[in-house]
Amino acid sequence: GPRRLLIKGGTVVNADRKFRADVYCEDGIIRKVGCDLEGVSSDAKVVDATGKLVMPGGIDTHTHMQLPFFGTTAADDFYHGTRAALAGGTTMIIDFVLGGKNQSLLKMYEQWRGWADPKVCCDYSFHVGVTWWGEEVYQDMATLVSDKGVNSFKMFLAYKDLFMLRDDELMKAFMRCKELGALAQVHAENGDLIAAQSEKMIKLGITGPEGHEMCRPEEVEGEATARAITIASQVNCPIYIVHVMSKSAAQAVMRGKEKGHVVFGEPIAACLGTDGTNYWHKCWRHAAGYVMGPPLRPDPSTPRYLMTLLANGDLDLTGTDNCTFNADQKALGASDFRKIPNGVNGVEDRMSVIWEKGVHAGLMDPCRYVAVTSTTAARVFNIYPQKGVIAEGSDADIVVWDPEATRTISAKTHHHNVDFNIFEGLECHGIPLLVISQGRVVVDHGKVEVVRGSGRYIPRKPYSEVVYSRILQRDKVWVPEAVEREPYSGPVIQLPPVQ
Ligand code: URP
Ligand code: ZN
Ligand code: ZN
Ligand code: ZN
Repeated sequence: GPRRLLIKGGTVVNADRKFRADVYCEDGIIRKVGCDLEGVSSDAKVVDATGKLVMPGGIDTHTHMQLPFFGTTAADDFYHGTRAALAGGTTMIIDFVLGGKNQSLLKMYEQWRGWADPKVCCDYSFHVGVTWWGEEVYQDMATLVSDKGVNSFKMFLAYKDLFMLRDDELMKAFMRCKELGALAQVHAENGDLIAAQSEKMIKLGITGPEGHEMCRPEEVEGEATARAITIASQVNCPIYIVHVMSKSAAQAVMRGKEKGHVVFGEPIAACLGTDGTNYWHKCWRHAAGYVMGPPLRPDPSTPRYLMTLLANGDLDLTGTDNCTFNADQKALGASDFRKIPNGVNGVEDRMSVIWEKGVHAGLMDPCRYVAVTSTTAARVFNIYPQKGVIAEGSDADIVVWDPEATRTISAKTHHHNVDFNIFEGLECHGIPLLVISQGRVVVDHGKVEVVRGSGRYIPRKPYSEVVYSRILQRDKVWVPEAVEREPYSGPVIQLPPVQ
């Protein structure tokens, strides 16, 4: 029979407003939102949400499950990673297809689908990395947009020789994205500087995790962020800066917006919830646990600064860059920080960390919280209103949230397949009491019961309304009237003959 679920007595929180309503779901779709819906169905499973918030499930815009990286593979695969996501109130992830130089984007896409489809427990989608440039890439991008539901491509200014594009290639990729109606995402760090300075660090004898930050301080991220925005603005291509990790990068995003460029900034849970002072921790294993690119910043006021911008609308939405490695994997870089696999957790804890540091701290209201954890992602990546809102006809991906209950984050109790948690010991207000994926209760007061392989690949169409309306405005280029000009009639300097 049909799967029926009635969520009674809660307060629905959408990005635009908050209101008291019951929510009735059937076969994975929200069918009714309104007062006193008891009569709608006699055989529905009823859950009581009195005194609780009923919010659209989180959308994590940025994950790397089972990513092959640094000669090893990220510990959270598509099963454990999406299970952890659901445990924390995130009901959809957008992961990255990320092949190396000269690898076919289409083949890589199929490979990643093959890894994900049998394992994912929640709905998901893919961004695709453009890690090299050529005719085949140019063609594959079109196929990915038209046939595979991909509407976002990530380009790297870092990871020299592995993923990095030159500025002219970046510009071509931007032009292609714009032509196809796909959003251009950029990993903004200066890869040449990082390569040169990390070598210098090693020569100076700085081989520990602190060297990872010291050779790529925040100016290196700020420069690349400003450069990427400058290049995108030359071809009037909307741009999305992934993992905004520093004040410098955030300021570059703000400057771009002030100038009227279409720029989106994505801070991640890691940089909103903790900082880079951990790279100087006495325990090597602890310090290495935080190594990611771009690094967390040693300036401890960074997380609150970024949270404030996120609350204000200067930054837009959040992901996690979830890309986890166990201690023995991190130990590949035990004597050389350049070999520490880059990546940290976040997919499970993002919802709680942002509630704690944003809403509980008094920086943002619950509606803005829903916007930055779910709705804006759905709108930007063009899956709204299927996702990102509690509304009739939308997917029943829902979180019943207890804003007052607390939990303490720990690797001992988390659902990740990894032995470290960068938020260890952080007490968070805000707990997902119930998590509903495709209308199915998968988390019930701490009990997690997911279905392996039940997540669906969610195809996304080119440019969302949000992105499109903003570039249309900018596309109106002002062309000056031609000036009638007298020809030059003055003296001409004679250059000496070449010897
Ligand atoms: O350290 C990181 N961020 N690992 C994942 C790859 C990336 O650049 O997002
Ligand atoms: Zn990146
Ligand atoms: Zn330790
Ligand atoms: Zn990433």
